Amino acid sequence: MILSETSLSAETTEVRDQTVKRAKITIVGAGNVGASCAVWAAQKELGDIVLIDIPEFADKTAGKALDLLQCGPIERFDCRIVGTADYAHAKDSDVVIITAGVPRKPGMSRDDLVQTNVKIVGDVAVQVAKVAPNAVLIVVSNPLDAMVYTAWKKTGFPTNRVVGQAGCLDIARYRTFISMELGCSVEDITALLLGGHGDDMVPLPSYTSVAGIPVTQLIAPDRLQAIIERAKMGGGELVKLMGTSAYYAPASGTIQMAEAVIKDKKRILPCAAYCNKEYGVGGYFVGVPAVLGAGGVEKVIEVKLNDDEKKLFATSVSHVKELVGVAEGFLR
Ligand code: APR
Repeated sequence: MILSETSLSAETTEVRDQTVKRAKITIVGAGNVGASCAVWAAQKELGDIVLIDIPEFADKTAGKALDLLQCGPIERFDCRIVGTADYAHAKDSDVVIITAGVPRKPGMSRDDLVQTNVKIVGDVAVQVAKVAPNAVLIVVSNPLDAMVYTAWKKTGFPTNRVVGQAGCLDIARYRTFISMELGCSVEDITALLLGGHGDDMVPLPSYTSVAGIPVTQLIAPDRLQAIIERAKMGGGELVKLMGTSAYYAPASGTIQMAEAVIKDKKRILPCAAYCNKEYGVGGYFVGVPAVLGAGGVEKVIEVKLNDDEKKLFATSVSHVKELVGVAEGFLR
């Protein structure tokens, strides 16, 4: 049967008109992380997807989008997917994800990327602000905390609509290693961490539980510390193995955040969010638990920290400030 408009009752049509509004997600940087973001977003049928990369890669980007589009009949999603170098396609996006930039190579730290990526993220942010002025911006490019700051400065967006992805990934790594240690489901592990990305993260074992049981009752302190260290260095472990930085899990964490925004889920996720009075940070983007919904970062949640955690957090924040200082030098 061919479904024509007349075959739909007036009532059905009305309901469809009221409820069907596809979200639009633009992903800038169609490399490993960006393309993986598109895959996860399509699989979750979050909305229409626009992949943007530099003009030299316009055909390649269009090809990636078309290839992914052709998964629709198998994976059962109905999304429009476009790959382009033209920002006009990003017009009025609800969420824009920035993964543009260079990734780490073996032997490099995330901080080594700052000069190159400030320029790239800054340029991208300016383009995005022109076409999608109401979007929630999720930044993934590294060094993360400084890149979020760069995107915020260059777009002039309100702070609630600029956020960085790092904690979702770090916490996923931490939960994965806990589940491997205990031989239990990853789904039963909830955890919290603060601070900068990776090496600088501040895991909080006192806020980690397994099906409600404090993790400290299940894993001995030295084993837990080893797990924390592995999670902190999780990015470096993968760079060594793959010769470039990770992409499936970073993309998965990013789309977890995008989903919270698009579906207005009010999820509490660890994000690089703007903190001024919160945690006494004084106007920087740092990893904190935040409520993510349609308004972007709707609230930063402050949790009680013990003295050791406070010290680690302060060290992490001072590193963020230092890097933002370097980034600001290149922004001028
Ligand atoms: N505009 C749009 N895209 C750009 C620009 C730009 N100005 N400059 C670079 N890109 C694109 C590149 O052409 C490339 O396709 O960004 C993409 C980056 O992809 P990869 O090199 O595969 O890097 P990836 O592993 O995806 O990492 C991207 O995310 O996790 C972080 O540390 C990582 O900063 C890195 C970023």
